[in-house]
Amino acid sequence: MFGKGKGREGMRTVDGRITKPLSRLAGCLQCAMGLMAIGWIGGCGAVLTEIPELDTADGRVFAQRCGACHGKPFGSHGITHGVPDPRFRTMVEWQEELTRMESLMREKGLQPLTDHEREAITRYLHRHAKS
Ligand code: HEC
Repeated sequence: MFGKGKGREGMRTVDGRITKPLSRLAGCLQCAMGLMAIGWIGGCGAVLTEIPELDTADGRVFAQRCGACHGKPFGSHGITHGVPDPRFRTMVEWQEELTRMESLMREKGLQPLTDHEREAITRYLHRHAKS
């Protein structure tokens, strides 16, 4: 009788310590593989995507235009896990990639970037590029 309460307390501590990180990992795995409820995606998005400021005006253009081939948009806000991380390249390198990607888009028959889109993407990359 009196041993029971103590035992449960112990279990709870162990449970709390072990299941918390585990369930978080499981949640993100599911997220990465199948995508379940929207709430989970939101929560996991912050963990998995480290791409900065995709949810800004310029970031959205970047995610949409570059994400057309690099990864698939989730839900309605067009934020992807697949777009390249702006911090991996310097601005000089980004200019080259951008030119290269624009010719890829032409090749694949995608709508070319408008001046406005190119400016937004350049601005976004500039803000986050490696220096
Ligand atoms: C038409 C589809 C398409 C679009 C749109 C596109 N890309 Fe790409 N991108 C590719 C393909 C295919 C490759 C791999 C082949 C290659 O590198 O030439 C690639 C490769 C890259 C790479 C090199 C990958 C690496 O790991 O080194 C970068 C960086 C990149 N893209 C950035 C961008 C950016 C930034 C945009 C938006 C301006 C963009 N891409 C839009 C198709 C696309």
